[in-house]
Amino acid sequence: MKKVLVTRKLIKENSVRISKIFNVRLNDNDKIFSSDELLKYSKGCDGILTFPTSTLDKDFIMALSDSVKIISNYAVGFGNIDIEAAKSKGIIVTNTPDVLTDATADISILLLLGASRRAYEGRKAAEKQNWKWSSDYLIGKQMTGKKLGILGMGRIGRAVAKRARGFDMEIHYHNRKRLSPDLEHGAIYHEDINDLFNNSEFLSINCPGSKSTENLINEETLKKFPDGVVIANAARGEVINDEAMIKAMKSGKVFALGLDVYRGEPKINQKYLELNNLFLLPHLGSATIKTRLSMGNRAIDNLDNFLNKSIEPTDRVN
Ligand code: GLV
Repeated sequence: MKKVLVTRKLIKENSVRISKIFNVRLNDNDKIFSSDELLKYSKGCDGILTFPTSTLDKDFIMALSDSVKIISNYAVGFGNIDIEAAKSKGIIVTNTPDVLTDATADISILLLLGASRRAYEGRKAAEKQNWKWSSDYLIGKQMTGKKLGILGMGRIGRAVAKRARGFDMEIHYHNRKRLSPDLEHGAIYHEDINDLFNNSEFLSINCPGSKSTENLINEETLKKFPDGVVIANAARGEVINDEAMIKAMKSGKVFALGLDVYRGEPKINQKYLELNNLFLLPHLGSATIKTRLSMGNRAIDNLDNFLNKSIEPTDRVN
């Protein structure tokens, strides 16, 4: 049996499955291993099933046992792995696309709604039980009929668009490439990102995290938005420059922000916590049992196809 290291805890059904087809070292205690521990435990392994919480940088990949031929990431994003270093060492890297699209798009909508309808302030007031209904109490912004900008029109961005059409929103998007009309469904493409921002009364960030998307939302680009924009980030924390965002939230340029992801998570820039116009979640994009099981199965399939069946994994990213 081929040998596999799993770096974090899997959902039980996934653990049972992977144990049947591999000689596996599981991590049921869900300890966060250091790089040194991961290097030690992966010695002699043929593959690693890893998670976005583990950073597998160039030094790590270079120090990795030569026996490791595949790294299967339990996530659609793979910014935690130096895929070029892996390639240079002949290691295949795979991800888990498709299966988390719906769950993550749902969270994008939740962030937009939670931020625009002031759910954080609402929750606090309801808990205190000292609020009084009145015609102008906790007035938010309504999504109906507004222009929604989508930054990154991959699978998740398109699923956000599909949901937003249910709110009669006008969809605008920026993407590396324009989509074909059958995928666009009437959404308006902006080749220039500033044109997208100009047209975004609401913005949903759904692009991958990478060097090219880091700090895309910054002091300069924030100026391009209509006043009082609502922004939601369910992609990667690094896309937003936090200092610039906090300033824009204080000035009212940004009416409200919804975040599921953070730079250096689980940490958050402390200045955010002084603001009321913020709706926060702790990286729950894919957190439903159906989705997590499917992600586990997809990550296991990638290992199984490559190591046990000699089939090229369809989810190869490098
Ligand atoms: C989660 O953030 C993922 O990339 O799957």
